[in-house]
Amino acid sequence: MDRILIRGGRPLSGAIAIGGAKNAALPLMAAGLLTEERLTLENVPRLEDIRTMASLLAQHGIAVEWGPEKKTLGLGGRITSTEAPYDIVRKMRASVLVLGPLLARCGEARVSLPGGCAIGTRPVDLHLKGLEQMGAVIRIEGGYIVASVAGRLRGAEIVLPFPSVGATENLLMAASLAEGQTIIANAAREPEIGDLAECLAAMGARVSGIGGDRLVIEGATKLHGACHAIIPDRIETGTYLCAAAIAGGEIDLRGARLGDVAALARALDDAGVEISETATGILARRRNGLAGVDVMTEPYPGFPTDMQAQFMALMSVAEGAAMITETIFENRFMHVPELNRMGARVNVHGASAIVRGVPHLSGAPVMATDLRASVSLVLAGLAARGETVVSRVYHLDRGYEAVEAKLAACGADIERIAEDR
Ligand code: EPZ
Repeated sequence: MDRILIRGGRPLSGAIAIGGAKNAALPLMAAGLLTEERLTLENVPRLEDIRTMASLLAQHGIAVEWGPEKKTLGLGGRITSTEAPYDIVRKMRASVLVLGPLLARCGEARVSLPGGCAIGTRPVDLHLKGLEQMGAVIRIEGGYIVASVAGRLRGAEIVLPFPSVGATENLLMAASLAEGQTIIANAAREPEIGDLAECLAAMGARVSGIGGDRLVIEGATKLHGACHAIIPDRIETGTYLCAAAIAGGEIDLRGARLGDVAALARALDDAGVEISETATGILARRRNGLAGVDVMTEPYPGFPTDMQAQFMALMSVAEGAAMITETIFENRFMHVPELNRMGARVNVHGASAIVRGVPHLSGAPVMATDLRASVSLVLAGLAARGETVVSRVYHLDRGYEAVEAKLAACGADIERIAEDR
């Protein structure tokens, strides 16, 4: 397996182009199941998770074609199978997003239950309860969700007990082909959901309340093809903001949207990082030391759980202490022992971690169990003295496009070591 080698201590300077959002692209690809016409997605990131979703769609009979410039994905074709097999779903939990579209379009779906993962148990009960309210009959059989509906799904008023991102997306897609009106109250408000709703609207669905916590969808009998450009990745943006902050220097994030990373930008500002909006994106600059800042992860527009590990790496070299509380996933501190191996002083008590800043980290061989944890170790490596080798790079490849090339272009001493070396 490839590894990433970083020799720390170099400030960054330059520009990084932010790609399309992975977590918007995945549900948007699932939305391709809602129409027999062609859905064209632009600004699609070239990532392992996207390839996994493409193979799942291919298994359903959908033709998935990359455009010549490789950032455009065309989806279309007849659904020939309503089964999402365990072999694909176990690789990527977002596969469960095909459930709502398949059920709405074909009246049946057999989707493997995703099971737990490194960051928590992650049940899908809210997805299933919402679909049941819309008339679906669901049973669990042999590890699979087996769902069916006689005729069309019916509009319903669904109040989510928690604003789950995935449940909101699945229900939004199902509702767009349901009979009558669906209301999703306490809906998640992440920008990726707004992006999905905009695409569904372009496909002929009538969705109001986009961006808010109450989505109202008037179901259509049929959706048509559309062309939709995916929003920039706010977590990739946030990760490089933290890179500039931890390494020092100045980075220009081209195509990034400050409004989507407001909670993180506030925390970075409190820590002493200058963040400003430019005509082309966001400029991040750190000249002086960093101060410890407490953060707590929350649903959007709160501080994102997907930035918690990266922010912890940053706080590990800040002056003073920082308390980081994780409220979204119960097991998302897997990066702590690895950061501590690099000399960080982090103690976890339940859902909170106390980070006592140290003057410098020291390079070490490290590994991680999920995507954001892996990239937090890359960030720590940028600031550490000596060499850091991050293994299990396949986690990084699921969600970051050319992370080493983008950082190297800004002056970082970082390279990928191929498996056979
Ligand atoms: C999405 O996951 C993202 N994934 C995650 O990004 C992100 O961390 C998460 O939202 C929170 O922002 C994609 O968009 C593909 P949730 P999702 O449903 O939809 C519990 C990354 O690194 N819950 O909002 O799975 C659940 O267990 C990934 O890119 C239920 O209890 O998140 C969790 O504790 C990791 N029952 C919490 O809600 C349900 O039916 C939030 O989950 C659904 C969720």
